[in-house]
Amino acid sequence: TARSSVGGNVEGAWEALRDEAAACTRCPLYKPATQTVFGEGPLDADMMLVGEQPGDQEDLAGRAFVGPAGQMLDRALEEAGIDRARVYVTNAVKHFKFEPRGKRRIHAKPDAGEITACRWWYEQELALVRPKLVVALGATAARQITGKAATISRLRGQKLALPEGGTGWVTVHPSYLLRLPDADAAAQAYTDFVADLRGAQALLG
Ligand code: URA
Repeated sequence: TARSSVGGNVEGAWEALRDEAAACTRCPLYKPATQTVFGEGPLDADMMLVGEQPGDQEDLAGRAFVGPAGQMLDRALEEAGIDRARVYVTNAVKHFKFEPRGKRRIHAKPDAGEITACRWWYEQELALVRPKLVVALGATAARQITGKAATISRLRGQKLALPEGGTGWVTVHPSYLLRLPDADAAAQAYTDFVADLRGAQALLG
């Protein structure tokens, strides 16, 4: 295909982009963070998964979704019949935002300005990977992929027309499942999350 004949260029462009992002100063989040956590996965992926931002472990490892939320995501993807190795996985915001509390770093939500500042990198990733489907995990990712303020309950489980073209799909963030205090509610929310991921996969045929 035309795409595979330019495969080398796509790879090189992605590496250049990742290296550029490593030096990003578009918003102040780069200062306290350890490093930029860029997206990763096959550049010909049909599906792009977008999280919120790296967490504590991702910030240290330099890789998306390797901590507790990532383990939850891995389990749900597997149950939904989606091979993570075939998905391009990234975040709406590429630096860890946190508040220090003693020796711990407590996750803080990225604000609209930080999400907008980081949109540049998402747009570049989108242009290179050109996925058929972009799946947003949680409200921050939903805002990034739709380009406007987003409510999960209103958007979840619907085919969305993205501003850059292509289809979007919104579900909850796996961290939300980890925070639910009630075991029955958590089990139900997990089942619903897996169903949303299955729905996403079904759109790809
Ligand atoms: N949560 C996210 O949204 N992304 C990660 O990479 C890790 C946790």
